[in-house]
Amino acid sequence: MAAQNENPSAGVPASGLSGRAAGSPRPLHVAIVMDGNGRWAKQRGLPRTLGHRAGVEALKRTVAAAPDLNIGWLTVFGFSTENWSRPAAEVSELMALPKRYFESDIVRLERDGVRVRVLGQREGLSPDLVRIIEDAQARTAKNDRFALNIAFNYGGQADIVEAARRFAEEVAAGRARPEDLDTALFSSRLATAESPPPDVVIRPSGEQRLSNFLLWESAYAEFVFQDVLWPDYGPEHLKAALQAFAGRERRYGAVLPDDVLAAG
Ligand code: FPP
Repeated sequence: MAAQNENPSAGVPASGLSGRAAGSPRPLHVAIVMDGNGRWAKQRGLPRTLGHRAGVEALKRTVAAAPDLNIGWLTVFGFSTENWSRPAAEVSELMALPKRYFESDIVRLERDGVRVRVLGQREGLSPDLVRIIEDAQARTAKNDRFALNIAFNYGGQADIVEAARRFAEEVAAGRARPEDLDTALFSSRLATAESPPPDVVIRPSGEQRLSNFLLWESAYAEFVFQDVLWPDYGPEHLKAALQAFAGRERRYGAVLPDDVLAAG
């Protein structure tokens, strides 16, 4: 998938439904806050750690289903910069999830044309985990059928601050001028620079907030909230979310041509 940080307003449709799902010309970028692992485990009298492991299985099902649903990019939230405040045992389990996932699935991801990127800060991660992440990225770097971004040790605010700091350093070093900065240039400094902005952000588990996920990128995303806990998530939930998205009218701050006519 080539980088496509297109201007969102360029995609305003002429008429009719403006959501793009199956059959749309450009594959979609879907972002998911994988929420509800803890509640899923609690409902079963299990430790939260087992909820997270079940969450990895839900991720596998979702990744397998996505390419056939006209999804070209999938960005999932695996660990936020705020999740460090959880109990040490839970943090330790969460840190083990990428290894668990890549050990079982990297060969399939490689074979299926999935390019993996892990977005977020490497500081704070163990050298072993960083090596596992870099290895998964390198092994799949040439794939272009489908892009999987795993936000891990990621925070939208931290990513924006980091991009601002990098640009300020370029200005200080004389390699850029303040007036060079525009939204496209700023987007290109973010962790998500290689992906278009998300078309839809899905949050299962009944919670309705963004939780510091893709703050800049989701400026014109549609939001779909679903009453299913992430470990139970599967292709049918993803299809339902895309159906909801397809019924949305995306205006990107503009008005649709029919409305211009109606206004006379
Ligand atoms: C939020 O649910 C979920 C997380 C903090 C972890 C999400 C991670 C996965 C689903 C697996 C990710 C896989 C990889 C490869 C990184 P919660 O624990 O806050 O649930 P709760 O709101 O019910 O307590």
